[in-house]
Amino acid sequence: MNVIEIKPNIFWVGAVDWAVRDFHGYVTPSGTTYNNYLILDEEITLVDTVKHDFLDVGIANIKSVVDPSKIKNIVINHIENDHMGALERVMEIVPHDVTIYTTKRGMEGMDRFFDISKWNIKTVKTGDEITTGKYKLRFIETPMIHWPDSMMTYVEGAKLLLSQDAFGQHIATAARFDDEFIDCASLTELEDATVDYYANILMPFGALIKAKIGEIQKMGIEIDMIAPDHGIIWRKNPERAIGMYLDMANNNAKERIVIIYDTMWHSTEHMTLPIMRGIRDEGLDCKVIKLRATPMSVAIKEFWKSRGCLIGSPTLNNEVFPSIAEFMVHLAGLRPKERLMAAFGSYGWGGGAVNWLYEMFKKIKLPVMEPGIAVQYRLKADDEKKCYEYGRNFARQVKELQSKFSGPSSKMCKLCK
Ligand code: FEO
Repeated sequence: MNVIEIKPNIFWVGAVDWAVRDFHGYVTPSGTTYNNYLILDEEITLVDTVKHDFLDVGIANIKSVVDPSKIKNIVINHIENDHMGALERVMEIVPHDVTIYTTKRGMEGMDRFFDISKWNIKTVKTGDEITTGKYKLRFIETPMIHWPDSMMTYVEGAKLLLSQDAFGQHIATAARFDDEFIDCASLTELEDATVDYYANILMPFGALIKAKIGEIQKMGIEIDMIAPDHGIIWRKNPERAIGMYLDMANNNAKERIVIIYDTMWHSTEHMTLPIMRGIRDEGLDCKVIKLRATPMSVAIKEFWKSRGCLIGSPTLNNEVFPSIAEFMVHLAGLRPKERLMAAFGSYGWGGGAVNWLYEMFKKIKLPVMEPGIAVQYRLKADDEKKCYEYGRNFARQVKELQSKFSGPSSKMCKLCK
């Protein structure tokens, strides 16, 4: 992959990882990219590095633009391994007195990964600036988006926001920009990848994201390009990326329901069908996901897109089914909000899965429709009818919850021109 000039004298020098399918447990069926950027100015500045596996590609890309011994500054926006893992090796090819700019938490984390005793590190905070020549870099701390160390770098003079994880997507593509992407007419695939990334990585931080976007708005900076550290660069539609983040940070979701279930002898699976028919007869769309046949990250994304979620689990040894337990623990860590939950499942004698699920819903502090519905051994005609009515009732309550939300807020964004 050749380097790409994304703005005058600002180059993408990253790497495309077509093959990665497991990104620290997050299934990435479309691969990903590790984006980093090189600013050719009076003071040549590298922003972030690539994942260590791609070091040779990253260094070759830098060398194709400039002799690395001329690099004056390195900005580390985020110290997670996929962005800083190659820093130690990069330090071997740049001048020994290169200045590294990062946050205080960034420096503390860097000290855990590397021997930094001989490195010239300057810590920065929101509002600090450095001038590279024609361009001025303004730093914006974004703690917990995605780690405590995180920050963004705004390139004044280029109207460019280097946003690290935020606004990124795990997709490997030949295209580098949204307007080059094959689906750019509808943005469907790109938007889906953006939601997927937010749901699996940033869902816990909605309030922080909303506050940070508000803070950036108050800075009065103009953004006409957002270049994240993963995936596609938002050149044509940066306002769409920000609008989507505002929507998600406001807990907006579609008026639809996802049924996520697992099954042992198909009884719980058979319950999904009349429940789904009931939902459909109330006029709502419904997606059904068998958990062991679906990557966890896909189930999380579909959960996040939907205002209502029904979890179905058989009882195994008086407990919830293990795959459902794994999903619920994963979901709890993401601290979701404003999704109506309910549970159903089959049992042989003692039962227990449905109760386990309600305890978990309450622990996560999600709204619930109670009670759940359980069927012994297998569905009879009257059970089917109860499941159907359960689906209808759940759909009505989802509509009621949805009526409290105002819908997409993307047109509210004033950041981009
Ligand atoms: Fe792409 Fe938080 O690392």
